[in-house]
Parts: sequence; structure tokens; C-alpha cells
Amino acid sequence: MDISAFLFLSASFFLFYFVFSHAADNITQSQSLSDSEGTTLVSNDGVFVLGFFSPGDSTNRYLGIWYNNIPIPMVVWVANRRNPITDSSGVLIVNSSGRPVLLKQNSTVAWSANSTKEAGNSIVQLLDSGNLVLREENEENSENYLWQSFDYPSDTWLPGMKLGWDLRTGLERRLTAWKSPDDPSPGELSWGIELHEYPEIVMKKGSSEFFRIGPWNGLGFNGAPEIRSTAVYKFSFVTNKDEVYFMFDMIQHSVITRAVLNQTRYERYIWVDGKWSQYYYFPRDECDAYNLCGVYGNCIIGESPICQCIQGFKPKSEETWNPDEWSKGCVRSTQLSCQDKEKIGFVKFVGYKLPDTTYTWVNQSMNLEECRVKCLNNCSCVAYSNSDIRDVGSGCVTWHGDLIDIKPTAANYTQDVYIRMPASEPEVAKGKQKMKVIVIVVVAIAAVFGVLSIPYCLCKMTNLKDKMENNVMIEQNIEGQSEDLEVPFFNLTTIATATNNFSSNKKLGEGGFGLVYKGTLTDGQEIAVKRLSQSSMQGLNEFKTEVALIAKLQHRNLVRLLGYCIERQESMLIYEYMPNGSLDFFIFDQIRARVLGWSMRFNIICGIARGLLYLHEDSRLRIVHRDLKASNILLDSKMNPKISDFGMARIFGGDQTEGNTNRVVGTYGYMAPEYAIDGLFSVKSDVFSFGILLLEILSGKKNRGSFHPSHGLNLVTYAWKLWKEGKPLELIDTCLEDSCIQLEIVRCLHISFLCLQQHPEDRPNMSSVVMMLHGESSLPEPKEPTYFIGKKSPSSSKNQSSSANEITVTLLEAR
Ligand SMILES: *[C@@H]1O[C@H](CO)[C@@H](O)[C@H](O)[C@H]1NC(C)=O
Ligand SMILES: *[C@@H]1O[C@H](CO)[C@@H](O)[C@H](O)[C@H]1NC(C)=O
Ligand SMILES: *[C@@H]1O[C@H](CO)[C@@H](O)[C@H](O)[C@H]1NC(C)=O
Ligand SMILES: *[C@@H]1O[C@H](CO)[C@@H](O)[C@H](O)[C@H]1NC(C)=O
Ligand SMILES: *[C@@H]1O[C@H](CO)[C@@H](O)[C@H](O)[C@H]1NC(C)=O
Ligand SMILES: *[C@@H]1O[C@H](CO)[C@@H](O)[C@H](O)[C@H]1NC(C)=O
Ligand SMILES: *[C@@H]1O[C@H](CO)[C@@H](O)[C@H](O)[C@H]1NC(C)=O
Ligand SMILES: *[C@@H]1O[C@H](CO)[C@@H](O)[C@H](O)[C@H]1NC(C)=O
Repeated sequence: MDISAFLFLSASFFLFYFVFSHAADNITQSQSLSDSEGTTLVSNDGVFVLGFFSPGDSTNRYLGIWYNNIPIPMVVWVANRRNPITDSSGVLIVNSSGRPVLLKQNSTVAWSANSTKEAGNSIVQLLDSGNLVLREENEENSENYLWQSFDYPSDTWLPGMKLGWDLRTGLERRLTAWKSPDDPSPGELSWGIELHEYPEIVMKKGSSEFFRIGPWNGLGFNGAPEIRSTAVYKFSFVTNKDEVYFMFDMIQHSVITRAVLNQTRYERYIWVDGKWSQYYYFPRDECDAYNLCGVYGNCIIGESPICQCIQGFKPKSEETWNPDEWSKGCVRSTQLSCQDKEKIGFVKFVGYKLPDTTYTWVNQSMNLEECRVKCLNNCSCVAYSNSDIRDVGSGCVTWHGDLIDIKPTAANYTQDVYIRMPASEPEVAKGKQKMKVIVIVVVAIAAVFGVLSIPYCLCKMTNLKDKMENNVMIEQNIEGQSEDLEVPFFNLTTIATATNNFSSNKKLGEGGFGLVYKGTLTDGQEIAVKRLSQSSMQGLNEFKTEVALIAKLQHRNLVRLLGYCIERQESMLIYEYMPNGSLDFFIFDQIRARVLGWSMRFNIICGIARGLLYLHEDSRLRIVHRDLKASNILLDSKMNPKISDFGMARIFGGDQTEGNTNRVVGTYGYMAPEYAIDGLFSVKSDVFSFGILLLEILSGKKNRGSFHPSHGLNLVTYAWKLWKEGKPLELIDTCLEDSCIQLEIVRCLHISFLCLQQHPEDRPNMSSVVMMLHGESSLPEPKEPTYFIGKKSPSSSKNQSSSANEITVTLLEAR
């Protein structure tokens, strides 16, 4: 980290955590907040401020709440959003009946809090959550507010704020967009809960549905799988006789995040590195448009036409199935007779966004079989499903009326829907195979309509066949039935479609071996595609053999290879997608680092050690990774570490496992000296890299770069200095201070020094490291660790490619 970055981080750290404003957070009946005097209320922790502002280019004045220390003003709530004040006469008071009232010229009321209760001596207080509350002065610790701004949201959803209904009072809390950036009055878009039997969250434009994320199924919403609990926040959906609401809370309170509805969409942001980074937004694509394909239509991005009928249905206006006709939807291919129950069955649909729930019926205590019987016996029932899919699934929801707004979902959990069909339909009640068949049907339809507009495709003749094989294989993988007899081949068209033609906004990163893209297969599975760079690739057959070998390496701490693709000079590896990205993203970031407490870090350290041990000793191949570093450690949804890029050295044509190579791949800062200088590598050079990684995880600092400017020390020498001076804990990332289990931390530091020994034979092997980590083995005294400070020399830059933060170099090019 250079000095300016260091100063910047310290400065923002200071801003966020040490500025405690001494401004008041409340006003009582004898006080006021006045625009002309510029007075404000600041929440006790200094995060939020209440005051007067003018939005965008407007000169109108509004009373609102925004983030205090974030330089880009971000208003989260507006009081008089419908009633602007045109001059600076605004004054907020608590009037003698205890109501907050905003007065303007001539003491006319611009806004007042809608509280029904009268209170003698009430105060208005801005809480740390950003909630402006009215309460009785002596009820300090009660949450019994007479009024609160969280009940009247503007366009921003903050942690702790409920969206939805209080059924006792009829109060609905709904986000409404601003009319424009200059005008906070309610615009067209709004976002809230529709009180159907099976309630669901719907974005509306005026009074019509605009986009549904679907109902809560216990785990999430299958129309918006991104909205779910993570390591940072927790979502909850509550339905009972008094309330139906949805809310989120921060697990990591130091992380600042908000969700906002602007004039076109819903977006979630997180505040990192001095700016708001967008996490996700909705609606995202054409298929999110409500009911685009009409009844029983299925909207599939990338297909042409994008509207298809679900299985067992055909377009209503068959001759002219064009965009104008889609909304007419689909009709059954075979008519259903309701009375004759022998002739009725249900087909299971897997992997779809649940249809609109306007006409549904729910019983939370029925099981799936009771649900089927209930649906079978009611002629108006067209489909049923479990209402909650946690564990084995429970509850019953039935649909009455045509099914609309269906599309494949990207959710990793599926809420299977059983749709009423004539018994003659081939898939009725056969279970397992269904998905495969549906996929093939879709593929066949797609092929008939000519998906072939994707420019990459050359081989139209083989395309359909490949595509079918692929999809079938993928599906076997999903169901975990394939015995990995061979690695699935994906054709280029499938990958191009999944990654939106390698669109730059699908790019996840850039590593030494090529670019990585995120993709979504038509069945909704998320994948990561590594598009290998061309240079110094080995021959085709060698490549295939290597891929097949590497695909056999399976361990819970290795990223799973799902398949590969070789076509038209392109070679790609397809991996499972890791939602939390890479370790460097967390440990080197001042704010995100707070997510990783010690127990999580220790779990990550142990996981990496086990994965490496497997590569070195337990797999048949004995793989030396050769490029172990924080950006090659990926994190799954539970923050378990998975090593990526293993076996790349083999794929790139260096398949010995120990010895001497004249091609050095690796990353400065992590390379063992004997490897960087002499090209000698062995499992022990990976152990060295592991030692560096360990120091980085402990300290939250990068090894590369001058770490401690005033001493000219790098991370290794600095850590050793502290160790020798008997104050090892000074190295530890400040955000671990609360969670310190000192013994464990010191042991890890000790192990890292052992891994960083100059001579490979002095370093432990990974099985000893794993035992040492668990305290099952004594630790020898370390000698002074070594660190090779690499410099890019001009002669070495022949074949280098840069990654985001580091340089991967090839010192001597063999070919
Ligand atoms: C109101 O703000 C003042 C600071 O001006 C503070 O001393 C007082 O404790 C606050 N009252 C309550 C009830 O929080
Ligand atoms: C306080 O304000 C409310 C809302 O404007 C109003 O209904 C009430 O009459 C006011 N009370 C007094 C004593 O002015
Ligand atoms: C305020 O009152 C004065 C005189 O009472 C009147 O001339 C003026 O128009 C009023 N202004 C507004 C904005 O009502
Ligand atoms: C104020 O509250 C009443 C009843 O509690 C409700 O009917 C009315 O719509 C509310 N007004 C606003 C602006 O929220
Ligand atoms: C909503 O926000 C997105 C991203 O910030 C932006 O692209 C879009 O233009 C905004 N919509 C409007 C109407 O401002
Ligand atoms: C819900 O299902 C349970 C179990 O089948 C049944 O006992 C109960 O009566 C049902 N409730 C309603 C409202 O139908
Ligand atoms: C079928 O279900 C609907 C919705 O729950 C209900 O209104 C209707 O009465 C039911 N019909 C029969 C025959 O049970
Ligand atoms: C997949 O779903 C499971 C629950 O079935 C959840 O625990 C996990 O976090 C999800 N993973 C991803 C990548 O979304």
C-alpha cells in the first residue's frame, strides 16, 4: 500500500469511526430546527443528520435525513416531499400538543407528523438507525414511538426498516421513488408487499404491476435470488395476523448499505472505498417485465422469440407468434376434462420463477401430498407447490386462474411447481427426468426458431446435438448423479449466451491465465468462465487430457471444474460460480475486512491448508499450485475458502510436479526464493506462498509494496521484527482486536514463519502445517524468515499479463 492510499484509508476510517459529533440528536417543545440558522440534528453515532436541503438543481427547501459523513449527499428520507418550501423560512418545532410540525412563511404548516396520540412532553429524536422518532420524554428505552419516520418511507430502505403492512392499523409502508432527481415528491414507481393469500413483493408503476420478485419461500425470492441473507446482512419476512412485512438487518454494523428505488429501478448499494458501489438492481432484463409473455408463457432471455409456451401449451395465435401476440399467451395443447380424475395428473416444473400469486390459496400446515389432493379435487386449481422450501419443504399453495409471469430463475434453490395436465402428457408423475425433457423441448423449439443469431456460431449442423448433450450433462451435474466419467464439453454458443457474448459487465476479473466471466446457463445455474489466453498453450489433446485429470480433483476446498470448451481457437474452463468473490476483496479492504472475524479467518486458513494438502499429497496427481495468492482463494456463500487456478501450470505445459523449469509462472510477493531465482519448484515453494498468505490474512496487509514506510520494511521483515520484540499482536488487523483468541493467532504467525524459511527443507510440508494449525503438533523455533523482493526486469517482460493488483510474470520463456 503506498502512502497516499494509506493516508486515505486512515482518513476515511477516521471519518467513520472516530468523529463523534456533539451536535444534539433531539429537540423538545422549547426548541426548534431552523433553515435560516442552518441548525441540524445529528444522530448519536454521527452517521445520520436531519436538516434542510435543496435537491439537485432545485432551489426548493425540504426537511430531510441524509448521511452525515458521506461526501456525496444522499438523502434517505424527506418530510415535506409533497409540499416544498420556496424560501428559507422553514422551522421544525414540537407544538404544544406534542406534534412535530414544519412551519413555513406566515406560520403555515408545510408538514406535520401523522401521530394520532397526544403527548404532554414529547421529544423528536434522530436515532442511530436513521429513524426520526417522536416519543414521550421519559420513555427513553421504549420502542413505543408515538410516530416514526420508518413508518413513512421515501425512496430508501434502511436496515431495521419494515416494508409491508401493519394489519391492526392498516398502515402500509412502501418505498416510492422521487419524481426526478430535483423533485422528491412521489413518482410513479413504488415497491411493497401485495397482500395476497401468498403475499409477494411487487414493484408497481402507478397502479399496475411492473416487476415481481415473487413470494418468500423461506430462503429467498426465486424472482430475485440476490435478495437473501449473506455474511453482511440478514433478511427476514414475517407474516402473522398482526403484520406482514419484510426487513433486513446488518450483521456487520460497520458496513453501510442502502437500497433505493429511483425513477427506473430498485438498486442496492454498499459504501466502500469512498464511493457507493452497486450490488445489484431490478428489473434487470426484458424478461423481468411483468407478464410479458401472457398466460402460460415462459420468458427466456437469449431465445428467439423470447416468449415460449411452457410444456403442454401452444401459442394462442399460432400463425402469428410475434411480439404483439405474446401477451395473448398460450393455450393447452390438449383440453382438460375436470371431472374425470383418472385423466388428470400434474407435471413438475423445476427452476422457474413462481407465477403471479394474486389468485392463490395457502395452508401452512399441509404437506405436498395433501396439497396435491386438495388441488386435484378443485376444478379451478391449476397448480400447487410447497409454500416453504426449507428442509424437506412444507406448506401448501394452490393457484386458481391462469398462470402468468413465468421465467427460468437464477436461484440456486428451486420451488417446484406442479401444473395440472392431462394424464396423456408424457411427463405426468414421472418425477426426476422432467427437467431434462423440458430443456430438450426448449432447445428444440429454440433451434427451430433459430437461436443462431449469435455471431460466434459456425457449426450449425452440430449445434443442436451439442447443445442437447450439454444441457443433459449439466443437468446430471446438478442432480449430482454423474459419476464424472468425463468432463462435460460446453460449446461456444452456450458459453457466449451464458456470458452475454463475453460482455464486459460480466467480467469478474483478470488473472494471469486469462479473463474470467460470470455466466448463467439457461437452466439458471451460475458459472464462472475462464477464457484462457492463447499464448504458450499446449496442443489440443494434451489440453483435453489435462482438463480431464484436473476435473477429477474434487475437494471441498477446491473450486469445482464443471466443464470445458475448445472451439475456434478458444479454450475455456467452466467452474462453479463463487458468490463472495476472492479473499483479497475482503482482507485488503478496510470496510469489508470487518466481515471477517477471527473464527472466519481461521476457518479460511485451515480450509486453504486442507485444499493444498489434498493437491500435494492426497490426490493422485500431486499438483504444485505455483500461484497461490489471496486473489486465487475464492469464497463460497458461507465464506468457505476454495482454491482456484490449481492445475493451471499443468494445462500450460509444465506437468512435472517437482524439478526445474525454465518457465516461471507465479506472482511476485508470493514466490519462494529458489523458485523466483533458479526456477526450482516443489511442494515446498507452495508452502512458502502459503506462509505469505497467512501473514496477509493475519495482518490485513498486502505483502507486496513497501509496507511500513517509515522503516522501509516489508510485511515479512516487519512481522519478524515485531515477533523478535515480543509484540506479535501489533501485526494483527485492527478489526480483529475484539475477537482475538491470542494463542491461536500467535500460533498462526509462528507457522507462517516456519513456512517462510529460506531453505525448502526447513519448511514443513502441508500435512505438518495442518496438524500445527490444530495444535496437534509442536512448533519448532523458526529461523529468520526470508523474502524475495522481485523486480520486473526488462528481459523478463516478454510474456507477462497484468492482473488487477499484481503482475504475473514469465521469467524465461521456453518456447
Ligand atoms: C437531547 O440532546 C442533548 C444534547 O443537546 C442531550 O444532552 C440529551 O441527552 C438528549 N436527550 C435525550 C433524551 O436523548
Ligand atoms: C399541533 O399540530 C397539529 C398538526 O398540525 C395540529 O393538528 C394541532 O392542532 C397543533 N396543536 C396546537 C396546540 O397548535
Ligand atoms: C404572509 O402574510 C402577509 C401579510 O399578512 C401577506 O401579504 C403574504 O402574502 C403572506 N404570504 C404568504 C406566502 O402567504
Ligand atoms: C394519517 O393517519 C390517518 C389515520 O391514522 C390516515 O388515514 C391518513 O391517511 C394518514 N395520512 C398520511 C399522510 O399518512
Ligand atoms: C437509476 O439509476 C441507474 C443507475 O444508477 C441509472 O442508470 C438510471 O439512469 C437511473 N434512472 C433515472 C431515471 O435516473
Ligand atoms: C390446513 O391443513 C391442516 C392439515 O391438513 C388442516 O387440519 C386444517 O384444517 C387446514 N386449515 C384450513 C384453514 O384449511
Ligand atoms: C376451489 O378453490 C377456490 C379457491 O380456494 C375456492 O374459492 C372454491 O370454493 C373451491 N371450489 C371447490 C369446489 O372446493
Ligand atoms: C444456495 O441455497 C442454499 C440453501 O438451499 C443456501 O444456503 C446457499 O447460500 C445458496 N448458495 C448460493 C450460491 O446462492
